[in-house]
Amino acid sequence: MSLLPLVLFLLLITMAVATPLRPGFYSETCPEAEVIARDVMKKAMVREPRSAASVMRFQFHDCFVNGCDASLLLDDTPTMLGEKLALSNINSLSSFEVFDEIKEALEEACPGTVSCADIIIMASRDAVSLSGGPKWEVKLGRQDSLTTSKEDSDNIMPSPRSNASFLIDLFAKFNLSVKDVVALSGSHSIGQGRCFSVMVRLYNQSGSGKPDPAIDPMYREKLNKLCPLGVDENVTVDLDATPKLFDNQYFKDLVAGRGFLNSDQTLFTYPETREYVWLFSEDEDEFFKAFAEGMVKMGDLRSGRAGEIRSNCRVANRKPVDNL
Ligand code: HEM
Ligand SMILES: *[C@@H]1O[C@H](CO)[C@@H](O)[C@H](O)[C@H]1NC(C)=O
Ligand SMILES: *[C@@H]1O[C@H](CO)[C@@H](O)[C@H](O)[C@H]1NC(C)=O
Ligand SMILES: *[C@@H]1O[C@H](CO)[C@@H](O)[C@H](O)[C@H]1NC(C)=O
Ligand SMILES: *[C@@H]1O[C@H](CO)[C@@H](O)[C@H](O)[C@H]1NC(C)=O
Repeated sequence: MSLLPLVLFLLLITMAVATPLRPGFYSETCPEAEVIARDVMKKAMVREPRSAASVMRFQFHDCFVNGCDASLLLDDTPTMLGEKLALSNINSLSSFEVFDEIKEALEEACPGTVSCADIIIMASRDAVSLSGGPKWEVKLGRQDSLTTSKEDSDNIMPSPRSNASFLIDLFAKFNLSVKDVVALSGSHSIGQGRCFSVMVRLYNQSGSGKPDPAIDPMYREKLNKLCPLGVDENVTVDLDATPKLFDNQYFKDLVAGRGFLNSDQTLFTYPETREYVWLFSEDEDEFFKAFAEGMVKMGDLRSGRAGEIRSNCRVANRKPVDNL
């Protein structure tokens, strides 16, 4: 039997894995790609202002789990439980339809060309810049995964109850620095979280039967009203005082003890992260610069597995078994 197909296949894999990401990756094959993606994002935000926050969160939840490969967008199949069911995502992620809409527009303009993984990266950038935040140049050329794994997501994604030292260690596994941890947490400058994510902190921090002492008393009173014991835990609360505007208010809130999640407030409690909270609360340009750098670094995470350009972000074109 000829080895040629195998050799060709290995070559393809190597190419897929080795293709470096770069700005303007689609400048020949789909020159309007970034304009089209931004346009759809803009329309989505007019329809539903929160979609900016919902969409930009996908970069984090996709890239941390086996690299930025749109594994997060795959629907479950009878044999594969997807990341959508993972604890950090279920009843929490929304705006999946925005990725469908961007994909549809791009398939119309340049069929089979732009990956869903790149769509996540472009849309996250656009969501931030359209919310008043920084704008950065994105590197493109990612491929889409053939698989998704609920279990991998559950093993990796941090709980809202995490403390700063845990987050520092976790981010370090992805070559992200202490400064990156703090800057990227600044994403919580926009959007909302559920009461579900804050109940322990409000009523039983570390099993004490008491609230987290780091919460400002006035803010705690407000949270107690929004999320009383027995509340429907799907009720949502703003993550900072200006939840539609991407700004450094989040860090000012942390300094005042008004961070929503334990993982937020702990950034000000810990000496290692506190200096960056101070810095970003006082200097929005420093925050914007660090945030953009962090997003680019996070966007560099790769799975090292062979991929494809999906034609529908919810389903793989090929079966993973085709790979063997
Ligand atoms: C540092 C560790 C992080 C933890 C523990 C964390 C956890 C959470 C939690 C628990 C929520 C609320 C979910 C809910 O209750 O339904 C949330 C919301 C959000 N997260 Fe994070 N997050 C982290 C980092 C990040 C990063 C790095 C990004 C993006 C770069 C991000 C973007 C967002 C956004 C935009 C929202 C609001 C989403 C919406 O309104 O739909 N988070 N996060
Ligand atoms: C931080 O979280 C980790 C992991 O949950 C835990 O082992 C550690 O004791 C916590 N540190 C502090 C100071 O609470
Ligand atoms: C982190 O950087 C090291 C050294 O440059 C590299 O070997 C490793 O693959 C990187 N890890 C990730 C998750 O990117
Ligand atoms: C608080 O947490 C502790 C330990 O996690 C648990 O044993 C206790 O039952 C909880 N109390 C309430 C009121 O939920
Ligand atoms: C939140 O809403 C989802 C979907 O409607 C539902 O399945 C879930 O049970 C709700 N969770 C809580 C804690 O009420």
